[in-house]
Amino acid sequence: KKIAVLLSGRGSNFISIKKAVDDGSINGEIVVVISNKADAKGLAFARENGLDGVFVDPKQFESREDYDRELVRILKEKGTELVCLAGFMRIISPVFIEAFRNRILNIHPSLLPSFKGLDAQKQALEFGVRFAGCTVHFVDEEMDNGSIILQAVVPVEQTDTDDDLSARILEQEHKIYPEAVRLFCADKLRTEGRRVFIN
Ligand code: GRF
Repeated sequence: KKIAVLLSGRGSNFISIKKAVDDGSINGEIVVVISNKADAKGLAFARENGLDGVFVDPKQFESREDYDRELVRILKEKGTELVCLAGFMRIISPVFIEAFRNRILNIHPSLLPSFKGLDAQKQALEFGVRFAGCTVHFVDEEMDNGSIILQAVVPVEQTDTDDDLSARILEQEHKIYPEAVRLFCADKLRTEGRRVFIN
């Protein structure tokens, strides 16, 4: 399938997906990488590796909807069949979600539905949970709310700082995100209500 990746920063999840595409585990190709930040490391990595990397500047648009319409235009132009949000630090509007319903994935660094929103790892640490983790889910109109595809669990250690816990979670992100993309591209995911079944 034709995959687009949207990111705002480092891009380590994007790189993990790219690796799985390159080694043939994902039956797909990355047709475009879009960033809302001109200096995103992930965008530079995409361009250095021969991918189409596009910076779409939020300042050039009057509203979120206008911005998202431009994203949809680019994505359609590239023939996108799956959109992977990988550290894309913007709320996406219904305009976007409707255009790609059930074809947008996101990774969140918590065991949803706990700790939605920003700094999820810090929220988990401060709450005092014994186990944390990450979730790949379909994106719907509400933030960090869509149907769950895969999750991975990691222990929280007494000595953990935010960075320690984030690193332990990130290692799992790099496993479950490519795996979820692989399943999607192989048409192995079936949704029934909130539940996702893997065939
Ligand atoms: C990850 O922690 C991801 O779970 C969250 O944003 C971070 C992105 O990291 N959505 P990277 O840019 O993929 O390295």
